[in-house]
Parts: sequence; structure tokens; C-alpha cells
Amino acid sequence: MAATNSSSVEGTREIIASARAGGKSIALVPTMGALHAGHVSLIRAARAECSFVAVSIFVNPAQFGPKEDLSRYPRPFDDDVKICTRENVDLVFHPTPTIMYPPSFKTFVEVHDLQDVMCGASRPGHFRGVATVVLKLFNIVQPDVAYFGQKDAQQARLLEQMIRDLDVPVKLKVCPIVREPDGLAMSSRNAYLDAKQRSHATVLHRALQAAWQRIEAGQRDAKSLLRDIRVMIEATPGARIDYVTVVDMDRLQPIEYLKGRVLIAVAVYFGTTRLIDNELIVTE
Ligand code: PAJ
Repeated sequence: MAATNSSSVEGTREIIASARAGGKSIALVPTMGALHAGHVSLIRAARAECSFVAVSIFVNPAQFGPKEDLSRYPRPFDDDVKICTRENVDLVFHPTPTIMYPPSFKTFVEVHDLQDVMCGASRPGHFRGVATVVLKLFNIVQPDVAYFGQKDAQQARLLEQMIRDLDVPVKLKVCPIVREPDGLAMSSRNAYLDAKQRSHATVLHRALQAAWQRIEAGQRDAKSLLRDIRVMIEATPGARIDYVTVVDMDRLQPIEYLKGRVLIAVAVYFGTTRLIDNELIVTE
């Protein structure tokens, strides 16, 4: 049976209310569509742990900058619904921009500090858009558990903070990064890469892996690790670094010496396409 579709807030609330009345636990997997194996891994985690799985598909205008790829972001909706049906998703919520942001819309959510660093520094307003839409999705679907990917580590950290600060009754689960066979992290934006860029894009993961190996061998100096990552990426044709950083997982602030839960994160442009990747490392 095809996954049920709903684009209205009221319709979605009714479907969720009857699932809840039937004793079901509700999972939400928020996405912008163009579903790939990374999204599917979240859906499968949700399917394994909850009895009702909702996937939202909404290309959220509020999280795109004026010069970003909102208009060309892929929207293969029929294929996405097929994937959801194959994965036994119970409900696909796909509102229009006007349903989510009517002309009278005035309220935004900001997670201070965490929204300003890393991707937030090069994409001003991005995380305000993310936090706002995700809180709206939480309020519409009212899930028990929501699933996010470690691929967007800063997003997951920031949403965890929002949930805590605003007492949102949702449990957040973060799932591992799913990669192509050559190591490139799956992303809907990989489709923008031409053949040359696609083959060079593996440098993000190769550079992170090389850093990880040096950490395994005892290296704890962030400056030295960052230098090597930069050298590797800068030697790659067509690659332009946005940022390379080592931060503590709690504050997302740069650190000099690796200790505790640490994130090594990179953002690299190939042409106009911006790719991100990261490695979470737990050291003594
Ligand atoms: P989108 O980029 O479609 O990603 C939806 C979810 O899939 C996010 O939680 C993201 O981290 C996860 N994901 C993407 N690629 C992944 C991969 N290779 N491995 C594992 N998980 C992966 O992130 C967004 O949409 C939006 O910001 C959203 C949260 C939906 C708000 O609009």
C-alpha cells in the first residue's frame, strides 16, 4: 500500500491523533526530499524503534540564503514517495511553503552561539531557518522520537540544544553518516557535481580518515591535524576550502588539544557546490 500523503497541518494532526489513540509510538524523520541511502538509514532506524513512521518532505526556504540553491534544489517527489512506500513509511507530510510560512508569519527560533559558528558563519540565517522549521514540524507531528543524521553534526547539536532549552517533548536520535562506496558522504547536493568534481570530492573523507589515523597513533595537537587536512584538500583540483576545524562537541568552539568528544569538520566548495563532512572522535 502506498504511504499516506498529507500536505495540510489539520489532516496530519488527525492522522497522528488516530495513530496515537491506537497506542502507536510516533517517529518523525524530517527531510528536504531527494531521498538517498542516508535518509533511508534514518527511516529504517525509525521503523525499527517506533510503530508509526512519518517522513516530512519540505524544501525549507527559510534555511537558504538569497544566493543559495533553493530554486534548483532537486524535488523528485514521486520517486521520494516510492522510496517511502518501499520502506513502509506510514505518513509523508509534504506541506507547501505557504502552509508553513503564510504571509502573516512572524516567529523565528534562534539557538545563540551554536548557530553562528562553522556552517552558520558562512551561511548566515541558515540555522535560524532550520530551528524554526524543525520546531514547527515537531509541533505539527508531535513525534515521540525524531531522527537526524550525524552528516549534519552542527544541525543535530543545535536541535538538541533547542529541544532542551524549549522543553520540547521529543527524543532526538542521531544516526551515523552513510557513504558512497568510495567514501563520499551521501548528499542530495552530490547530484550537482560533474564527473571530475565527483571523483575529487572523495578528498573530504580521505583527509578526515588520514587525520583519524594520526589521532589513533597518538596525535592530539589540533593545529598539526588541521594543517595536514588543509594541505590535502588544497592539493585537490577544483577544491576550495570554506572551513576546516576541530571543535568540542558541546560548544562547537575550536580547541587546540584533543580531549573528550571532539568533532573534526570540513566544508569544501567544488564550483558552486558546497560539501560538508565530519568525524566525531572520542579521546581520553
Ligand atoms: P536533508 O538534507 O534532506 O537531510 C535530512 C536528514 O538526513 C538530516 O538529519 C541529515 O543529517 C540526514 N542525512 C543526510 N545525508 C546523510 C547521510 N549521508 N548519512 C546520514 N544521514 C544523512 O537536514 C535537512 O534536510 C534539513 O535541514 C531539515 C532537518 C529537514 C530541516 O529543513
